[in-house]
Amino acid sequence: MHKYQNYIDGSWVGTHSGRTFENRNPADCEDLIGVFQDSTVEDVESAVAAAARAYERWRLVPAPRRAEVLLAAAQLIATRKDELARDMTREMGKVLEETRGDVQEAIDMTLFMAGEGRRLYGQTVPSELRDKFAMSLRQPLGVCSVITPWNFPMAIPSWKIAPALVCGNTVVFKPATLTPLSAVNFVKILEEAGIPAGVVNLVTGGPDVGTRMSTHDEVKVVSFTGSTTVGRTVSQNAAPGFKKVHLEMGGKNVVMIMDDAKIDLAVEGCLWGGFGTSGQRCTAASRVVVHERVYEAFMREFVARAKSLRVGNGLDDRTQMGPSVSQSQLETVMKYVAIGQKEGATLVTGGHRLDKGPHARGWFHEPTIFGDVDPKMRIAQEEIFGPVVSVMRCRSLEDAIAIGNGVAYGLSASIYTQDINKAFAAMRDIYTGIFYVNAPTIGAEVHLPFGGTKATGNGHREAGTAALDVFSEWKSIYVDFSGKLQRAQIDT
Ligand code: UN1
Repeated sequence: MHKYQNYIDGSWVGTHSGRTFENRNPADCEDLIGVFQDSTVEDVESAVAAAARAYERWRLVPAPRRAEVLLAAAQLIATRKDELARDMTREMGKVLEETRGDVQEAIDMTLFMAGEGRRLYGQTVPSELRDKFAMSLRQPLGVCSVITPWNFPMAIPSWKIAPALVCGNTVVFKPATLTPLSAVNFVKILEEAGIPAGVVNLVTGGPDVGTRMSTHDEVKVVSFTGSTTVGRTVSQNAAPGFKKVHLEMGGKNVVMIMDDAKIDLAVEGCLWGGFGTSGQRCTAASRVVVHERVYEAFMREFVARAKSLRVGNGLDDRTQMGPSVSQSQLETVMKYVAIGQKEGATLVTGGHRLDKGPHARGWFHEPTIFGDVDPKMRIAQEEIFGPVVSVMRCRSLEDAIAIGNGVAYGLSASIYTQDINKAFAAMRDIYTGIFYVNAPTIGAEVHLPFGGTKATGNGHREAGTAALDVFSEWKSIYVDFSGKLQRAQIDT
């Protein structure tokens, strides 16, 4: 059995406490992947101190040189894509095709940010005064705390670490306790790619680690992806120190299907959006609003297809949907199935845990669809993070948009229609950070901003050049070469 270490100041080391925790395969709980460091606040202290020392050198490395490390890392990830995907499927359950996509997203993001090393564009503007030069440039902030979830164990760390590094910051990274192996794999690759000691530090462990990372005086940025409840705590912890906090939290994303939609296409989209990653995406299509004229036709097809999905171990190529990530996640799914039934929604398919035969040793649940859901029901309002889709009826586009907007979250939404006027109206009136036309609510690409409105986020975005705004701040610089005092707004 393998024992994995933290990575602090360029060395792989154990925690101060000597405690470890286990990482097991959610498709087969007898499959022990390894033990990882159950770190303490002392470990965070060491990691932050190392990152703070390393910052003094790293911030002065020219950005194109910093980017070369990212480029080398992206190339290493690409050569090991398959084995990294296997490790990821084994530790968190989603099927191999999807974990390959996760690794690919890390490659894409790392390459994109490597390209930014030769841009990091600022502005030069004409001064209002003679013989005076005016420009703005991005400066790094210092030590960044990166706290990431288990559903995209390599993609999401790359969304944060790659822009942090290219901007000249250093990093302390805490992955979710359910996916430390993918984090170790990612950091090993950064090490091999030549990241200097202390620039990236990995500390595995539980909430105490995350709390210290959000309160430490030396930490200037906290970037967190996870639940809205934990995000609120992170935000509160970081507020007294005026840290820059980037939060990416829950979703209750809607697919709107109009009466002129291509139903087959919408069904494909809802299956992929609703049951991909076993519904464990913040962008999951957990709500579907269907025009009453096509409701029955859509449901017939959607339910038949959901019933036929093969649920099993994601390492098996025939599997279409893997397990929930953990026992507690499975219990949440079961709890919401019971809530939905109690609220009076119609359980159209699924609704049960799978625990016989090949499913006996994992946290499997049937793909589940509720029909005739009222938009006010908890299953239509709260994020479940499992293979449960709530389907509602609507009478018009306006009706669909009102239902779509009628939740606390605002990450992603989509519309299926052949009518360009409806598509553009929905594009304008749905208040989310991401919107799709004739595609499900998942599938964001790395070069556009990713994030949401309302309880999904706090206004920041990651991915694309928007991520640079989280990991750098503007410095405006005026150079007066007139040789005399010139007063802005006063002298001409
Ligand atoms: C998430 O939902 O947690 O757009 C991240 C997507 C992926 C990223 C999802 N590229 O579905």
